[in-house]
Parts: sequence; C-alpha cells; structure tokens
Amino acid sequence: MHTHMDASPSTTTARTPSTKLPPGPRLPIPVQTALWVLRPVSTMRRWHERYGDVFTIKLPFNGDVVQVADPALLKAIFSAKPDDARAGEANSILAPVLGASSLLLLDGREHLRQRKLLLPPFHGERMQRYADTITAITEQELARWPVGTPFALRPAMQRITLEVILRAVFGLEESDHLDALGPMVRDLIDVTRNRLAVMPWFRFDLGPRSPWGRFLRQRARVDELLYELIRRRQADPHVADRDDVLSMLVQARDENGEAMTPQELRDELVTLLLAGHETTATSLAWCFNLLLTHPHELRSLRDDLDAGSTTRLDAVIKETMRLRPVVSIVARTLHAPLQVGEWSLPAGVVVAPNIELVHHRADIYPEPERFLPGRFVDKQAETYEWLPFGGGTRRCIGASFAIFEMRQVIPVVLQRAAGLRLVEQSMDAVRRQAVVMVPERGVRVVLEPAAAS
Ligand code: HEM
Repeated sequence: MHTHMDASPSTTTARTPSTKLPPGPRLPIPVQTALWVLRPVSTMRRWHERYGDVFTIKLPFNGDVVQVADPALLKAIFSAKPDDARAGEANSILAPVLGASSLLLLDGREHLRQRKLLLPPFHGERMQRYADTITAITEQELARWPVGTPFALRPAMQRITLEVILRAVFGLEESDHLDALGPMVRDLIDVTRNRLAVMPWFRFDLGPRSPWGRFLRQRARVDELLYELIRRRQADPHVADRDDVLSMLVQARDENGEAMTPQELRDELVTLLLAGHETTATSLAWCFNLLLTHPHELRSLRDDLDAGSTTRLDAVIKETMRLRPVVSIVARTLHAPLQVGEWSLPAGVVVAPNIELVHHRADIYPEPERFLPGRFVDKQAETYEWLPFGGGTRRCIGASFAIFEMRQVIPVVLQRAAGLRLVEQSMDAVRRQAVVMVPERGVRVVLEPAAAS
C-alpha cells in the first residue's frame, strides 16, 4: 500500500517527525500476535505501563496499530473525518460473513446512508415494546435450567439474546415456518467461531468438509431462508403494523426515496445478529460472575430492585461494562495524517482507542480492579472515559438495545433463580474469542435445589 509517509516539512513538528510512530514492543510480529491473542489483558497492561498512553504494536493483516489509552486524546480520533479514519476497512476480515453492504464494513457516504436507515428502529424509546418479549424469553430459558447440576451461564445467556434478536429484529414468531432459521443461524455462528474458517489463508473451498467449504454451504442455506423472510416482509400488506426491526427497515427510504435492496437487508440482518447477540450475552455472563462473587453488591441490588428502583441496576450494568468490556479496542485505518496528542500519525496506520486500558485508569476510576457499582450511582459515565460501545459516528447502534435487554434479563434471573451460585467461587479469567473478551469457563453455575423456584 502506498501511503503518504513523506509529509512536507510544514506539517512536521521539530520534535516528532511524522514518519516516527509512538514507541512499542520490539518483539517479532508472531510473538506480539501470540501475546495479543493468548494473554490480551495482562500483555496490554504491561505495554501500557512500559510505553505510556500511546504505543504501537504490530499485528498481521493490520500492520502498525497505535493503541491510545488517554481519554483526552480520543476526541481527535472519534471526531476525525470518516473518510480519513475508516472503521469499515479495519473490520474487513469479517466481509465473507457479513456481506459487502454490512454497516460494520462500509465507510464514508455509503456508511452514513446505511446508518441513517438503520438508526431509527434502535432509538431508545422504541425498545420498550420489546420488554414483554425479552421477559418471556428469559422465563422460558430459566424453566430449562437444571436444578443441582452445574452448567455454563454464558451459553444460557446466548440462547436468550439470540432468541431476542430473532424475534425483535428479524420478527420471527413461534408459529413461523421459518423457525428452521434459528438452528441454522446457530450453526453459521459456530462456523464463524472456527478461526481457521475466517482467516484469509484458509479461504479455499476444498469441499463440504473443509472449514471454508462448510462455511460457504452453511452461508448459502442461511441466505436462502433470509431472502425468503425479506421477500415475505416486503410483500406483507400489514408490514406497517409490525414492531420488528426488519419491518421498519423494509419501509425505510433514504434521501432519494430509495428503499434498501434485498442484499442490503440481508447483510444488515446478519450484522445485527452477529454484532448484537454474543456481545450482550457475554456482558450478562460477566455481570452474574461479578454479582455472585460480591454478595454484598448482590444484596444491595436486590434490595434496590425490591424497593422498585433501577438506580442500582443501571450502576451495576455500567460497572460491569467498565470492568469487563467485551470489546476491548475499536480501530480506525488512517487515510490522512492525524494528530493525536504530540504524535502526528501518518496515513496507513491503524489507530485503536483502547477501551480496556481507559477503563482501568486509576486516575479516573480509583481502585480500578474492584467491582464498585457505587461509583456510577452519583456520577454520569463520561463519553471518552466509559466507552464499551466505542464512539463517534461509528458508535454501536445497538447500545440502547443491549442495555435495555440487560435491564430486563438481570432482574428476572435474580427473582426466578434465587438459588443460583457459582461452582468455583471466583472470577473467570478473560479469554479472547475473535473480537469478544469472554469468561474462560463460561461462568459455571449451579441452581441450588432448596432455593430453586
Ligand atoms: C453489550 C453489548 C454490545 C457491545 C459491548 C457492543 C459494542 C460495540 C462496539 C465497541 C462497536 C464498535 C464501535 C466503534 O467502532 O466505535 C459496535 C458497533 C456496532 N454494534 Fe454493537 N455492541 C453491543 C450490542 C449490540 C447490539 C445489541 C446490536 C444490534 C442489535 C449491535 C450492533 C452494532 C452495529 C450494527 C455496529 C456497527 C456500527 C457502525 O459501524 O456504524 N451491537 N458495537
């Protein structure tokens, strides 16, 4: 790639030539990559301590990735012109799954157009209409939990969040003959978990048994059903009366009065599904892991809920997402130089606001390793200090949806599964699973027979 590394002297400060990147580990790329993948949290902390708030790491596919851990510097990144700091390009590894029109992959005008079409259904107040659906789905899941036998909470939460998306976003109903879609989508997600399948090196169709071949066939089957769902919704004379996100998207028009194409609709459905369900489920799993290891906090939450308040609940959710953000960094590929503090970063590098490191700064959050929901009871979360959903024009469009869903699910679980306790009385270690930071053992719990309802 040709980049403008030879910036003219007028744009170059005397102290920092624009070609010079912030310091960082000098380890060979495979070693940096291995640490990044296998020990994400401790490695980042160590590099942060050693090199400061702005440091450069090297990764395959992305090259130089400049990590930024100072909230004061994030505004410059999140408010850079979308064409100069591109998020879509930085996510391009996901293209085979999401499709070329996915909001996550687009940049510039095209991104803005899709984002405007997608935002209205995710407006905070609209979420209210999904409250009963979420509660019912959670209750159904709880009814299946075994009593006295350990099980992992994260997959259980994933069953809830997947079902919520299929109903609230896709508009599937229990009676729907498309309910085959549910299990198929689950399979597709499983294939994407196979890291080999999404790695560019392995993108050869070597028949139905090879990872890539399996993926292509699975994708084709899911797409067939998705296109049928889209056709039916487009032909539905009562679409205007429906509550689901797809029905709104089918009716949405851009500035030129154009509707979304079936391919755009398909790509956005898959994007919402993949961006929305595992993230929310993982946050819920971390939340229960934290609450069950902090009985005192759990009691405060229960008391507050019993008193009809949601103040404590909101604080617990914010503190969970601060302490265990499920997405640890976001990334922008620079197409023009960008000034970040004293550094003039050249086009071609990736700049990455490091959510995990910002959330663990002791100057913002005293005793940053402790789970202290009280810190959010009287204090607002600041835009560049609390950023589990990223920021700027790429900030997560599902943020309200995710928080609303967590607010619904947590009280139902606490009420209906009062006897829930951890199998191991400790926090799970943080493990990287593709882009999501998950609890290593999936948060293993057991429902005590005596207290089970
Ligand atoms: C706890 C749950 C969630 C977390 C932690 C989360 C986190 C994120 C983050 C960090 C980004 C990137 C932001 C950036 O680059 O600045 C993002 C983008 C996105 N998220 Fe979420 N997300 C969650 C739930 C959801 C849900 C429920 C949906 C939809 C149903 C969703 C849909 C999206 C989409 C479409 C984007 C791309 C936005 C764009 O590029 O314009 N997310 N999310």
